[in-house]
Amino acid sequence: MIKYGFIGTGNMAQAIITGLLNKNVPASDIGVTSPRSADKLAERFGIVALPAQNLIDDSDIIILAFLPNQLENVTAQLDFKNKLVVSVLAGVTVAQLTSATHTTQVVRTLPNVNVAINLGVTAFSQTKLTAENNHVFQTFSSYLGERVAVDESQFAVFSAIAGSGPAYVFKFIDALAQAGVENGLEPTLATKIATQTVLGSAKTLSLSKQTAQELQDTVASPGGSTRAGLDDFKAQNFDETILHAINATISHKHL
Ligand SMILES: NC(=O)c1ccc[n+]([C@@H]2O[C@H](COP(=O)([O-])OP(=O)(O)OC[C@H]3O[C@@H](n4cnc5c(N)ncnc54)[C@H](OP(=O)(O)O)[C@@H]3O)[C@@H](O)[C@H]2O)c1
Repeated sequence: MIKYGFIGTGNMAQAIITGLLNKNVPASDIGVTSPRSADKLAERFGIVALPAQNLIDDSDIIILAFLPNQLENVTAQLDFKNKLVVSVLAGVTVAQLTSATHTTQVVRTLPNVNVAINLGVTAFSQTKLTAENNHVFQTFSSYLGERVAVDESQFAVFSAIAGSGPAYVFKFIDALAQAGVENGLEPTLATKIATQTVLGSAKTLSLSKQTAQELQDTVASPGGSTRAGLDDFKAQNFDETILHAINATISHKHL
């Protein structure tokens, strides 16, 4: 049995813990620590709240899930004993993690909120781990959804597309639904239709051998109404709008 220890109990820790519990990881094998919220969270999920050093001592894998600017402050008094440390801290490099935790067994990751339903996509740095730690990391990360090895130089772009991406997809769904409402649909119904359309289209694409561009053509016949809509997207610079937003995300500094 793998023992999981979370330092930090915010949105991302809760999303990952939910994903682990969905995969039948026993609640008693999941521990948390944080200054204010840990006890409450432990009670809510039936997991265990511990002081930070006890949590490290008791865990096989320690997940750092506090804010990036808290790294030095949180790790200063702790001894990680060269255990496996997995960071989800956006913008924090393997070198910074190694220096703060004094362990070589560090993996930099970047999950997204969909890990809560085991449909996340998580980037990870390729660190040399012991065979045992590698097994623990593979097991842990497989519970979260898809995993992709990403060079550290590409974490920022991954973060913009996969980390922030869910917000942009929700934005698109909302815009699609609002367009339905503008044209007379009842709001709840419009949201349901837009959500299911995005869900089904993503599934179709993921199961298909065709590209997203090719699949557009299968829906939009020449001279048809979908083609008129796609032409309008083009005229309104839809691709440039997305690119602009992603670039704004990438160039924004993490807190
Ligand atoms: N949210 C996302 O979609 C997302 C995606 C990818 C990566 N991330 C990364 O995930 C990390 C956490 O983000 P979040 O959205 O979960 O933040 P959040 O909801 O603001 O949570 C921050 C957590 O840090 C804890 N904390 C503060 N001081 C601490 C200390 N001294 N020791 C231990 N824990 C401490 C807080 O605990 P108390 O409540 O007890 O103060 C809180 O649980 C960030 O580094 C972020 O870059 C987030």
